[in-house]
Amino acid sequence: MNKKLGNPGLMLVDLRPAAYPIAVIASHEIAEQISRASKLFPWSTSKSPTVNAFDRLIGSRSIIGRQGEEWKHLRKRFNPGFAPHHLMTLLPCILDKTRPFLEHLDGYAKTGDEFLLDDLTVNLTFDIISNVVMDVDFDAQHPGTTRQGDRNGLWWLRPRVEWHRHQIDSRLNQTLWDMIRQKYAEQKQQGVSQNLRSVLGLSLQGVDHLSDALIKDTGDQIRSFLFAGDDTTAILLGWIFYELSRTPAALKAVRDELDDIFGRDAVVVREKLVSREGEDAIRRMTFTSAVIKEALCLHPPAGTARRALPGSGFMVRTTQGEGLCLDGLLVVYNCANIIQRDRPAWRPFERGPRNCIGQELANIEARQFEVESELYSTRQITSKSIDGTRMRVQLAPRALVKPL
Ligand code: HEM
Repeated sequence: MNKKLGNPGLMLVDLRPAAYPIAVIASHEIAEQISRASKLFPWSTSKSPTVNAFDRLIGSRSIIGRQGEEWKHLRKRFNPGFAPHHLMTLLPCILDKTRPFLEHLDGYAKTGDEFLLDDLTVNLTFDIISNVVMDVDFDAQHPGTTRQGDRNGLWWLRPRVEWHRHQIDSRLNQTLWDMIRQKYAEQKQQGVSQNLRSVLGLSLQGVDHLSDALIKDTGDQIRSFLFAGDDTTAILLGWIFYELSRTPAALKAVRDELDDIFGRDAVVVREKLVSREGEDAIRRMTFTSAVIKEALCLHPPAGTARRALPGSGFMVRTTQGEGLCLDGLLVVYNCANIIQRDRPAWRPFERGPRNCIGQELANIEARQFEVESELYSTRQITSKSIDGTRMRVQLAPRALVKPL
């Protein structure tokens, strides 16, 4: 659509009465005006009310949809758990979680069976995120653990499914609330050191009284982190594998770089990563980091939808100097897919005060793998491969993946 219209920086896609009209932003310069702090919007433009469609998943008090001072307070409370130096202390646990993933790949390499990479990467990233956020092991990668994917949005045609979801929702809340109570009690008993590992533990630091309201609020943030940090990172891994599989020169460069920094012995790799040299070794992974950045540039897994409050008179300016008034629009969508492919512009984690809190964690996770596969992209909440990333693997000289 954008190409057909002559690549405008902004296009209005009017889907009424099926959906709200959407201002699709296709230019980095205009996207910046949406995402940056301004006099009118000190923490950037407000989130679109379309975020509320995910309340069932992330809770109605999620940091993702909260605004103003409430959001600022939450961000301040949870930022320390996602700080790079803190995440580096969790590296041993992240590395442990990659072991079952590699064992699964080994198994498939031996049998030559086809499998869906998405199932493995989504379970891997879920195990990592739940450990980082709560210091809890759900063992999602354990054989026999299943996930039920249901992409049909017509819930009123399936009341039983909806009822089942409602029950799971209540159970999940109960489990999370119990867990928060338990972590808080442990922290009070044993002092802070035991619990400072996790994002949750750090966020409870200095809390004098754990009220019911705080428990529920914290539960929603945990749900949000599990949601925001799972599919997105799994999708990124899938695209990295795919792009490396069809770019042998890049694959070789990644391997050469990793061999040079870590050698080929898996035990030594682990030791080096968790040692004092670890941070320096990661800093030296320049080509590997570039591959991750390029995959995020070509295939951004997420985006942002904002709104221009009615009566705010919110205007954006095109590079030609034309002023466009977005006042009252409920969906203003920074479309990274267009923006990042058009000219050099990089905003997969968005920019400004509402940028991604988990970007460093995603980067740490992404620096680990190399495989080959074949996939196509379709757009859902996040941009996901259409076939679950069906693939085969074979071992040689590291795990090599054959597209089907
Ligand atoms: C490749 C992986 C990831 C990508 C591409 C990504 C992308 C994004 C984007 C584009 C936003 C802005 C959304 C908006 O403005 O509405 C965002 C926000 C957010 N992300 Fe990520 N994300 C990734 C991984 C993670 C991880 C691992 C976490 C872990 C907790 C996470 C947690 C969040 C949260 C909580 C927000 C809301 C921040 C706020 O409003 O203050 N994300 N992410």
